[in-house]
Amino acid sequence: MKKIAVFTSGGDSPGMNACIRAVVRTGIYHEIDVYGIMYGYDGMIHGNIRKMQSHSVSNILQRGGTILKSARSEAFRTKEGRKKAYEELSKHGIEGLVAIGGDGTFTGAKIFFEEFGLPTVGCPGTIDNDIFGTDYTIGFDTAVNTALEAIDKIRDTAAAHDRIFFIEVMGRDSGYIAIECGIGGGAELVMVPETTTTIDEVVKSLKGLRKSKTSSIVIVAEGDEEGGAAEIMDKVKSRFKGEDKEFKVTTLGHIQRGGSPTAKDRILGSRSGMAAVEGLLKGESNCMAGIINDQVIYSPFDACINKSKPLKDEYLRLQELLSI
Ligand code: F6P
Repeated sequence: MKKIAVFTSGGDSPGMNACIRAVVRTGIYHEIDVYGIMYGYDGMIHGNIRKMQSHSVSNILQRGGTILKSARSEAFRTKEGRKKAYEELSKHGIEGLVAIGGDGTFTGAKIFFEEFGLPTVGCPGTIDNDIFGTDYTIGFDTAVNTALEAIDKIRDTAAAHDRIFFIEVMGRDSGYIAIECGIGGGAELVMVPETTTTIDEVVKSLKGLRKSKTSSIVIVAEGDEEGGAAEIMDKVKSRFKGEDKEFKVTTLGHIQRGGSPTAKDRILGSRSGMAAVEGLLKGESNCMAGIINDQVIYSPFDACINKSKPLKDEYLRLQELLSI
């Protein structure tokens, strides 16, 4: 293998740049050419491909976002789109791919590999941490720390005014950010898509806490079955009629996706990037380079996409137990 290409796809996450840097420099170390594909699968289709040098990735390790940009591509969902992408890659003589992203990225990579046989290894880049085959995903640690900084500030004002705050964190299908913020931020309640918490239960807990606390924080993962934080707050508020209690809502949103990556995310991105390139050179393909128990493990894309990574029961219990 003498020429490989790297791209980022789906939602960006802090540490993707560290991963790109590791891919480029590991490739150069092994004397292979590394190309960067701009805008993910869309750029592949449009031939937006450029050769990377060691200096192309200078001074990016500490930056959030992705220098290769990201996009969600409708065209790549079609057979014609994928054929066009393969033709563009062939024009550059690309013999292997490194795909940095989440389950949508790996679903595309798996289909592409099955159709055209181009060896591909993935790196887990998403703030959601919802990928099987790795203990953590690149960007998760930074997102949790960013959210915690905001939650700490909200707690100050919540306590000053004896208010109940509903704070929405990201996680369309997953409660990883919510549960870690719940534990790290000392939330009274956490609502996640993986478990069912009814409005009755929320009301009961908050009313129960009135004896011991004057203010409360409820963390809601955006994908919770009862709705987003604003919707849940309205439902709960209507059950406190006649009581002198104020409710507020804050949606943290995309601030969780940006910012300088933590040390953990820089190191995870770097390890995974190096493992992806060295995996390709050793014949690994159609799989993701994750880190499990501090060891690099290559898991098939199929497992990464289809197997679930449930929240730890211990974490759910810990949050609940410490919120009394
Ligand atoms: O990166 C993952 C994620 O942040 C989800 O938690 C969220 O639902 C989604 O991406 C939002 O993505 P976008 O801003 O690209 O629509």
